[in-house]
Amino acid sequence: EVNMKILSIETSCDETSVAIVEDGRKILTNRIYSQIDIHKKYGGVVPEIASRNHITKLPYIIEDALEETQMRLEDVDAIGVTNGPGLIGALLVGLSEAKAIAYSLDKPLIGVHHIEGHIAANFLQYPELEPPFLTLVVSGGHSHLVLVEDYQTFKVLGRTIDDAAGEAFDKISRVLGFGYPGGPAIDCAAKKGDPEAIAFPRVFLDKKEYNFSFSGLKSSVLNYINSKKMKNEPIVVNDVAASFQMAVVEVLVKKTIACAKGIHMNKICMAGGVSCNSLLRQMMTDAAKEEGLSLYYPDPILCTDNAAMIGSMAYYNFINGAVSDLSLNGIPGLKI
Ligand code: KG4
Ligand code: ZN
Repeated sequence: EVNMKILSIETSCDETSVAIVEDGRKILTNRIYSQIDIHKKYGGVVPEIASRNHITKLPYIIEDALEETQMRLEDVDAIGVTNGPGLIGALLVGLSEAKAIAYSLDKPLIGVHHIEGHIAANFLQYPELEPPFLTLVVSGGHSHLVLVEDYQTFKVLGRTIDDAAGEAFDKISRVLGFGYPGGPAIDCAAKKGDPEAIAFPRVFLDKKEYNFSFSGLKSSVLNYINSKKMKNEPIVVNDVAASFQMAVVEVLVKKTIACAKGIHMNKICMAGGVSCNSLLRQMMTDAAKEEGLSLYYPDPILCTDNAAMIGSMAYYNFINGAVSDLSLNGIPGLKI
């Protein structure tokens, strides 16, 4: 279909976002209301507070999106919405709104998998990009290596067996006193520290497998900090941040490159909040160049949670017949 405009809604965590995307590739508007400042004082996202803020903000964000594009709800061709994975209360707010719009205007409703949405952010950034490609998806809740065979076929080749990469960033940030969200704070502190100051472990698991594990690294950093405190020795937080970040990034880059070579895939994408990380971008760029692989990653605003990526994926679901009905439900642990 040509000139198909999808209104999309994303409320799976702490961003209330509404976008209008044309034919899966062109962003007409991408409004993001971040609740970070509200959750900051609790050190992380409080699910109930997230749901309540989605409820109060979502109608206004929709209005903003329509105003920016000079469109009316009647002008959109379909409604896309994240239905999992995510916080159930938060997901249900977006879903209820999407269903109400779809039902009242008799427009198609399209459920979107949040992780597939993250991957689709690359379609917005690179209009010529087409599957197949390998994607490293690293966010607050996920660390996956996903082979995108076509617009509807996603094969998970590796995943974290414990913590997600973003989860580790957030946890270490908290103990270093940087607060939430941890990724951007550690990224920034690491620039002022020495990545070789402390030899934190690199966990590769079985070399032939593409799974990740970050809980051992997390414990190792916590042990280091605790033992320093016990001995009353000073902690150079920037060095801890830089050394921790290097340990995460080295594993992510090596595993991704090994996976690409293992499956003979010369195209790599990155997706999810952690793919904003400046060291990850730089080291993956260098490694890809050295191996002769093409690398793609979206602008930071499209890496973290946003509705435009959901609108892109919704389009590919729609043209492949994956349309939902009003029984669409929120599924916190929705499998890819
Ligand atoms: O994709 P996202 O917005 O939400 C989820 O689906 O989880 O990812 C959020 C995660 C958080 O853990 C945050 O700390 C991390 O992405 N993050 C970063 C950076 N920016 C955000 N991690 C490392 N470096 C960054 N620059
Ligand atoms: Zn996300």
